Amino acid sequence: MEVSYHDIVLVGGGCAGLRAAIAAVEAWPESTVACVSKVYPMRSHTVSAEGGAAAVTRDDDSLDLHAYDTLKGSDFLADQDAVETFVEEAAGELVQLEHWGCPWSREPDGRVAVRWFGGMSVQRTWFATDKTGFHMLHALFQTSLKHDRIVRFDEFFVTKLLVDGGQVRGVAALDIRTGEMHAVLGRAVIICTGGAGRVFPFTTNASIKSGDGMAIAYRAGIPLKDMEFVQYHPTGLPGTGILITEASRGEGGYLLNSEGERFLQRYVPNKMELGPRDMISRAIVQEMQAGRAFKGAYGEYVHLDLRHLGEKAIDKKLPFVRELVRNYVGIDPVHEPIPVRPVVHYMMGGIDTDVMGATELPGLFAAGEVAAVSINGANRLGSNSLTECLVFGRRAGLAAVEFSRGTDDGKEGPLLEQAKAEGARIEALRGKSGSEKISQLRREMNLAMERGCGVFREESEMQATVQTLAQLRGRFADLGLADSSKIFNTELVAALELGHLIDVAEVVANTALARKESRGAHTRTDYPNRLDAEYLKHSRVRFAPEGPRLDYTPVTITRWQPEERKY
Ligand code: FUM
Repeated sequence: MEVSYHDIVLVGGGCAGLRAAIAAVEAWPESTVACVSKVYPMRSHTVSAEGGAAAVTRDDDSLDLHAYDTLKGSDFLADQDAVETFVEEAAGELVQLEHWGCPWSREPDGRVAVRWFGGMSVQRTWFATDKTGFHMLHALFQTSLKHDRIVRFDEFFVTKLLVDGGQVRGVAALDIRTGEMHAVLGRAVIICTGGAGRVFPFTTNASIKSGDGMAIAYRAGIPLKDMEFVQYHPTGLPGTGILITEASRGEGGYLLNSEGERFLQRYVPNKMELGPRDMISRAIVQEMQAGRAFKGAYGEYVHLDLRHLGEKAIDKKLPFVRELVRNYVGIDPVHEPIPVRPVVHYMMGGIDTDVMGATELPGLFAAGEVAAVSINGANRLGSNSLTECLVFGRRAGLAAVEFSRGTDDGKEGPLLEQAKAEGARIEALRGKSGSEKISQLRREMNLAMERGCGVFREESEMQATVQTLAQLRGRFADLGLADSSKIFNTELVAALELGHLIDVAEVVANTALARKESRGAHTRTDYPNRLDAEYLKHSRVRFAPEGPRLDYTPVTITRWQPEERKY
């Protein structure tokens, strides 16, 4: 087993991770930061983000308004201190990205262009056409390359946190290329591995988003917060789940049912296509239930109509949408409406952190989608998450520096023992005989999650999902793998990912079952109202051998009292 030594170990190479790494080496130039990522950083899921990043920049806007929109969007479950920090630091981060090379789209007068996004009161979403994530990630990656103290471990799969003396001191990682275990030791660890959309069958998320960071933290005893809140984006392509950005509606696109009607007038009359995602996704499903949707080879869908915007505007503001729809649907949105349906996009919940990204395990930090700081509460507003990655990525990087400077290296012996034991666990899985197939278990998990934890949820279906997941956990022990090779054993990687997915799915389903109210994206047909008296609180789940252990913590309220959420 190889061992390497660093000051800070970063898990994940996307927007939050690279921002954290750059913040750390800038604050402490002598430090080394190991960037351990399952994929080459430019393949991180940030690359596929499209519509933009929110921050206050215009005179008709204010930090208070951005905070209020975010809190209302969250159905008042977000922590208000975290939201205030977020809106204050947002614009500075986007300007910083420009200095590092991110080509924000401009107005003719030279100002940074901003566009509408759902649930926002004014135009405040900065963008780089509709390839914002690609450009942001590129700017961050190039900047990280300037720092030779950021040491990369590309295609290393972190499967365990190494903990000794009550603090985290590194990670155990499988080198996917060689099949060997590696102990990457450091005085602090930052997890930035993104979400877990792959617990569902139909998602915008890349296949790499298997909840790895959430699962390794959970297995180390750290609570996951607000995991019942899963965001469906209203407009995914049927079949593939590819995201058609909300910017399409921000730029003026319409949603139409099979009767050619802009049906949102029945659901979000004052916001229409610029309503929040939870409400628009519910509206589409209700149109399907009422028989006013189209039927196609991949199920029901509605139309997203951009034709009235014209070819010039589409090519200028939404070129990627045109490219995607031409390539994956075989139609041109300049001339034909796009078939769309709600698709799992984002986990509002994650590893419980404070505003510096600190978890309850000393030395362990988290930022980005993997974390719940929490600014998203029960429903995130589109375009807040890229900015969240920057703001809280930077903070986690700085906090990790401060922690590392004030601590020692710990004892190597126990850490290496843990890494060896993890290597043995993985070795036992490689080529293991057994009667269950990865694909079959993953399929059953996906279907159970869609049935029990979809846009609308109901007690008996959630109970069935919880039971199915418990059975799947048992069957996982009898997994059979055909490939016993070492080099790029992708079957082994898939098996490890499946274990993580089942952990996360169980937490989502159990917390959803326990929250007997409707709030944001958690909509129960049997409990249709928001119940502040009982449920204005965060769920927190810890691992226990007998199954997820649930408790609740209060929501931080500073200046905004919860109110009825109307648009
Ligand atoms: O629709 C989009 O472009 C997605 C943005 C987001 O999730 O923030």
